[in-house]
Amino acid sequence: VGVLAAGAGGVVGALLHSAKTDTVGEVDFATPLHIPELATGQRDADGRLVFDLQLKEGSRRFLPGESTRTWGFNGDYLGPTLRARRGDHVVVNVRNSLPETSSVHWHGMHLPAAMDGGPHQAVAPTDTWSPEWTVDQPAATLWYHPHPHGATAKHVYRGLAGLFLVDDDAEAALPLPREYGVDDVPVVVQDRAFDGGNQFDDAPHLMSSAGVLGDHLLVNGTYGPYLDVSTRRVRLRLLNGSNARVYQFAFSDDRPLTVIASDGGLLAAPHATRRLQLSPGERAEVIVEFTPGETVVLRSEPPELMGDFFTDRVHGGDDRFDVLEFRAAAELADSPPLPDTLVEVPPLPVDEAVTTRTFELSGFRINKSKMDMSRIDFGVRRDSVEIWEIVNVDASLHNFHVHDVQFQVLSIGGEAPPAELAGWKDTVQVWHGRPVRVAMRFSDFTDPDMPYMYHCHILYHEDSGLMGQFVVLDEGQEVGVVPTDPAAG
Ligand code: C2O
Ligand code: CU
Repeated sequence: VGVLAAGAGGVVGALLHSAKTDTVGEVDFATPLHIPELATGQRDADGRLVFDLQLKEGSRRFLPGESTRTWGFNGDYLGPTLRARRGDHVVVNVRNSLPETSSVHWHGMHLPAAMDGGPHQAVAPTDTWSPEWTVDQPAATLWYHPHPHGATAKHVYRGLAGLFLVDDDAEAALPLPREYGVDDVPVVVQDRAFDGGNQFDDAPHLMSSAGVLGDHLLVNGTYGPYLDVSTRRVRLRLLNGSNARVYQFAFSDDRPLTVIASDGGLLAAPHATRRLQLSPGERAEVIVEFTPGETVVLRSEPPELMGDFFTDRVHGGDDRFDVLEFRAAAELADSPPLPDTLVEVPPLPVDEAVTTRTFELSGFRINKSKMDMSRIDFGVRRDSVEIWEIVNVDASLHNFHVHDVQFQVLSIGGEAPPAELAGWKDTVQVWHGRPVRVAMRFSDFTDPDMPYMYHCHILYHEDSGLMGQFVVLDEGQEVGVVPTDPAAG
């Protein structure tokens, strides 16, 4: 059904998903924003920082009337915010209490492929999988979610996702808001469709070539949320945790959002903008200023989409949403002014790049191949810098996510990236006619047999085959053979 080829896919998508959604002014913000529990782990006798995550079934009342059947980590919907510091050796005990095989991937984390939680680290029902690794990357807002072969969309849609915050000394030295849930607030944005009985509806009639698009927005699993603001400046950690939808965040009064971090950490300097567009899997940290006693709404405006009318409809490109209402107290505690500069983001030595690879995204294929669990597409050399050029030949949107590394965007459609994309990224939007060039370094964690993934993060595309696998090789190593895992469907 999901024909993706330029014209036909667009028409099919437009027919299947044709009603425009506009919730601006329609949402009464009646429920306090849910703040996911903060999990800072337990030190064990060996000094390891231990976390426990249990995947389980549950239910939650999102809308008036019936509760919705959900899946969550340790609770009914979404999961705790895990928090560790650069240098911590972490262990996560992942217990699967679902009736289906799943996995948990640490999106944005630099770690060995065998700990990555992709489709080769499947966790069968009742099993526990305990990956461990040393956190060694800059402070950032990362996230975790299931990645089972062919079923990622379903598992994420039911509610399995959470944030993983990394702290470090460079971030700690800056005068930034950092009191979790008070002036440093997670904002996980997801669209959901509900059926007449208030159950999540990801049925095929809503499948366009982008997958399911919902007409209700949940923030941290709250429908119609408001946040009480008690400080002059608030840091929002935005995650587009949706399966397919792109958001363009903007305030109802057009006040600036000052971007301080992209997917993989802080930018070199704060960048003020009135519009910030995130596709599925992308994150940003922004600082917002408030004045005492005011109310202002974060919205999503129609994203800037390329392509024709059909493409726009396929991606819900003219939909608008009310997202989250901020209610500032009559008196606000002072926040320190933002510094002019944040951290160093040293440019990768692109002139030392050993290879340039091209990835052509078309239909559910990369370079004409669909994902094959047993095929390693290529090997990269440890310590090498590579340039990857990603080309979207479809009329619809794709994005591109690479496991293990944070990359730097060199150019988009031949032009330098905008300031908000000039830091570390692990997921980037790839529009038709605007090839994206990125540079990255594969520093360690060689394993000729265990691959990392690269794929489109529109989950229906990923599940349908728009994914590939690479390994990191030591000097003299050759691409190996993926071990067969009976649990991996
Ligand atoms: Cu967030 Cu391979 O995914
Ligand atoms: Cu895609």
